[in-house]
Amino acid sequence: MKLQQEFDILVIGSGAAGLTLALKLAPFARIAVLSKGQLTSGSTWLAQGGVAAVMDSLDVAQNHAADTLNAGSNLSHSDAVNFTVEQGRASIDWLIEQGVPFSKENGQLHLTKEGGHSHRRIIHAADSTGKAILNTLIDKVRNEPSITLFEHCMAIDLITTQKMGLAGDKCVGAYVLDINTGSINVFKAQQTILATGGASKTYLYTSNSDGASGDGIAMAWRSGCRVANLEFNQFHPTCLYHPQAKSFLISEAVRGEGGKLLLPDGSAFMHKFDQRAELAPRDIVARAIDHEMKRLGADCLYLDISHRDDDFIKSHFPTIHQRCKELGIDICKQPIPIVPAAHYTCGGVISDINGNTDINGLYAIGETAFTGLHGANRLASNSLLECIVFASACAKDICAKLEDNCEFPEIANWDESQVTDSDEDVIIAHNWDELRRFMWDYVGIVRTNKRLQRAKHRSDLLQGEIAEYYSNYKISRDLLELRNLALVSELIIRSAMLRKESRGLHFTLDYPELNLQAKDTILTPINYSWPAIR
Ligand code: FAD
Ligand code: SIN
Repeated sequence: MKLQQEFDILVIGSGAAGLTLALKLAPFARIAVLSKGQLTSGSTWLAQGGVAAVMDSLDVAQNHAADTLNAGSNLSHSDAVNFTVEQGRASIDWLIEQGVPFSKENGQLHLTKEGGHSHRRIIHAADSTGKAILNTLIDKVRNEPSITLFEHCMAIDLITTQKMGLAGDKCVGAYVLDINTGSINVFKAQQTILATGGASKTYLYTSNSDGASGDGIAMAWRSGCRVANLEFNQFHPTCLYHPQAKSFLISEAVRGEGGKLLLPDGSAFMHKFDQRAELAPRDIVARAIDHEMKRLGADCLYLDISHRDDDFIKSHFPTIHQRCKELGIDICKQPIPIVPAAHYTCGGVISDINGNTDINGLYAIGETAFTGLHGANRLASNSLLECIVFASACAKDICAKLEDNCEFPEIANWDESQVTDSDEDVIIAHNWDELRRFMWDYVGIVRTNKRLQRAKHRSDLLQGEIAEYYSNYKISRDLLELRNLALVSELIIRSAMLRKESRGLHFTLDYPELNLQAKDTILTPINYSWPAIR
């Protein structure tokens, strides 16, 4: 790979958000798409339930908006909510035009149901919707001559004129680690887009893949962007509990199609917590499960769909049925052991309706962005929709800004003359584990002031160690992810400390009440000392 490359557009991330944007811009620009793993390495690939959109004649966008606001505990921004739900049908139509094979029944799209939705409005491809979407988008981008795909290439940090000591504040690209060769290259671009997904890997137990380390949020913060509402980490109520089933999700659609949550003695309990029982929004269900597990000292609870007939289960949930069967659980006959796990980052890099961030030339879309859509708790299946809607809006905004003969500033190559190979990689593995454990124990489903203070103390110590390590040794993917995870954890803890109420996903025993006024938590990187570009 060349040490310096120039493109019109640099898309960092190859999930639903990044690939949608790349496809929409393909006729107008030369585009680089980076993925730090394979193209399939993000959360999109794992998505099960589906995409929420109003497609039924008995449903209207106002219902979808009301459900989103309600799930978000009245913190969602109504402009972002209305904008998103109104684009629901167009987004599904676009995905169908690309060739996504959504499930049908009697020639019509099959609509399933999930928690917090007042209507059936989840469009899906059985229980592997993300795979169906991403496979289709990957086929398309591979056939676009204007798109160049860079797998196993990880953005380290954004390059901005301010960091370079030049006038203005514009993002002009990024330093990128080629993970296979270890070389570090400069990618220059007129417009750079963070589509790097969420940060749920900050927690010990998560439904996400290993790469969900909040890189986009960390890079944006280090470049001077504000972030918002990072205290709202969504815990999915039902991840499979099994020693060999790392991170496997049991879709909310299982509850949508009648699955019951059970205690170890086989009794139902959700009706005691919310009249919508199993179909209450996720924050309520996850908290109820956590409460019952702690009360009973149970390692897990159960989700039972075995009362539905076998053909229904196997055709609607083939992936879940197969995975459980491989682990010796026949979901047609027995309840599934489940636990909650970190699933979705509701907060992120502050961006407007077109994905613009605080820095010129830098956009954020998808899970890494904070658009105001999700409020204090994301409504199920609104995330894939958000990826398509905001990527489309962002593409339009970028088109209006593209320049024919853009001149880039001189950018220095990455300098490794002051660093050596590490002889103590164990520090990285140790700190990964320590960080994710204290985040789980102290900044999890139920918080207190004391727990947050403990977490902050540990986070400060870890960040000191990581900064020292970073400035002395050659970088690796693990080190970069640890550095990002540690920073995002700090931002989560600080945000949680600032919220003196319990709202949506943020529940604290010290402030169990809801404040009258709903307010975002915004953090600004004031007095941030720009990390010297190596
Ligand atoms: P992702 O799909 O996570 O992609 C991130 C990309 O960024 C990856 O390509 C990664 O390699 C790349 N990347 C990250 N950091 C860097 C870096 N430093 N340099 C280069 N590349 C980088 N939502 C729904 O709406 N419906 C569902 O049914 C649903 N089910 C889900 C099931 C599971 C198990 C999970 C984990 C999530 C689910 N979600 C669902 C949430 C939804 O899938 C995600 O929020 C959404 O797919 C995020 O898409 P994205 O494009 O923003 O990021
Ligand atoms: C699921 O299938 O339960 C995941 C849906 C989502 O996260 O929106």
